[in-house]
Amino acid sequence: AGVDFRASNYSFPDDFIFGVSTAAFQIEGAWNEGGKGESMWDTYLHKNPQFTPDRSNGDVAADSYHKYMEDIQMIQKLGVKYYRMSISWPRLLPNGTDNNISREGAMYYRTLFEELLKVNITPIVTLFHWDMPTALMDLGGWTNPKVMDYFEDYARVAFNLYGDIIKTWTTLNEPHQHCYNGYGLDYFVPALMSHGVGEYLCTHYLLLSHARVYRMYEKEFRPYQKGKVGITLDAFWAKPRDANKAEDVLAANAYLHMHLDIYAHPIFSDVGDYPTFVRERVNNMSLEQGFSRSRLPYFTDEEILAIKGSADFFGLNHYTTFIMSPSSMEPKWNVPSLDHDTGVKVDQNLTWPRPGPEWLTVYPPGFRQLLNYVQDNYRMLRDIPILITENGMADLGQTEDYERVAYFNDYLHQVLLAIHEDGVNVKGYFAWTLMDDFEWSDGYTFKFGLYKVDFDSPEKTRTPKLSAKNYANIVRTRRIDFNYIKPPIIRPFQ
Ligand code: NOJ
Repeated sequence: AGVDFRASNYSFPDDFIFGVSTAAFQIEGAWNEGGKGESMWDTYLHKNPQFTPDRSNGDVAADSYHKYMEDIQMIQKLGVKYYRMSISWPRLLPNGTDNNISREGAMYYRTLFEELLKVNITPIVTLFHWDMPTALMDLGGWTNPKVMDYFEDYARVAFNLYGDIIKTWTTLNEPHQHCYNGYGLDYFVPALMSHGVGEYLCTHYLLLSHARVYRMYEKEFRPYQKGKVGITLDAFWAKPRDANKAEDVLAANAYLHMHLDIYAHPIFSDVGDYPTFVRERVNNMSLEQGFSRSRLPYFTDEEILAIKGSADFFGLNHYTTFIMSPSSMEPKWNVPSLDHDTGVKVDQNLTWPRPGPEWLTVYPPGFRQLLNYVQDNYRMLRDIPILITENGMADLGQTEDYERVAYFNDYLHQVLLAIHEDGVNVKGYFAWTLMDDFEWSDGYTFKFGLYKVDFDSPEKTRTPKLSAKNYANIVRTRRIDFNYIKPPIIRPFQ
């Protein structure tokens, strides 16, 4: 028992790409070196050390600013040909604006990209993985429409500096998590607790910022750089508590509309704009609450058109599944809020494994269902691919990480089923994450890495876990061998 001997005869198609993901703030460290400006995470964590349970921050992290050559060797050992990483906006533009480009910051990424390419690893670069320059956060961050201009300027600097060698860009990482937890709640920085108001402003201006950058690239750079620009959205799968109960199915759909489709529909649907469900729900609630205008801003017709179709691929991050049923009142709701607007009771199934953080239960079939949901709802995905830009699991950091081996096997197995049995147009997979890193509000207490990082050692020593060996085998053989790494059989004492 406990050993999964399932075999899969399916293999990953020849054009399916494998990679591994990281994000600047979570690995780089060197928070004040090389002329870097502060990001809002630096500033906030220095002021509020109790924000993380271990009172940690990103000052040193895995020290990838200095140890990137080791990172590259680790990526090579995995055998993957793609590396998804992000640029730290304040490392490149210390004040967030393009009047001051850090020469050292610019050099750091140039060198890193060139070293990766030398060994045939293609970098896929995210412009915004949550580390907003403090100088711009002080002006309101994504709630200030002016920040759209500055994001566009930053993107232009990046395209000018690196577009000759970087051909795949993503504008934003997980806008939902960023706006919901950072603007709506205080689970992430900037911890604004502006639920129901700020969180929708964040959503609105992020969508517009994304489109601005996509259109700018299209016009100014694509003709000669010939690259692709996409976005990474995140989605948990929403499983109805009882699939035979209409109200549970409606609850699950409401959740997906308010969390995923609010971003996906404006970009990937044929009609564009926010989904009708979201528009009506937030308008009605706002009215009932005495607002004279909807808490969800409106796009102009021009904006709807600019956002619609503004992606060359659909980046999707997925980790877990939640259980949905209706609820008119949840005591923990802040009102107004996206949660309250959604009006759904969100539970976990605690018979599923939960090896690390509280939010992450393991339910592989949810992945296949989510992939089908996305493919079925957005016809554009017949023409452009889905790239799974993150998927992974956290534990306490042991190198004999049998649960992570099983997680990757089982989740990747669902990807194979989605490809071969459902015809989902998914063309790539990036494991989260290359090595243990700074896990936002959890600090260093939970570990997602394929490589262990010894955060106590000055060298930040990296050691491969069993899951690294297992992932390398999948990448090499393009199949999943469920018996490649066998958990020890624990015998009763005799
Ligand atoms: C998604 C985020 O993009 C990443 O930064 C984070 O570490 C993982 N989820 C795990 O929580």
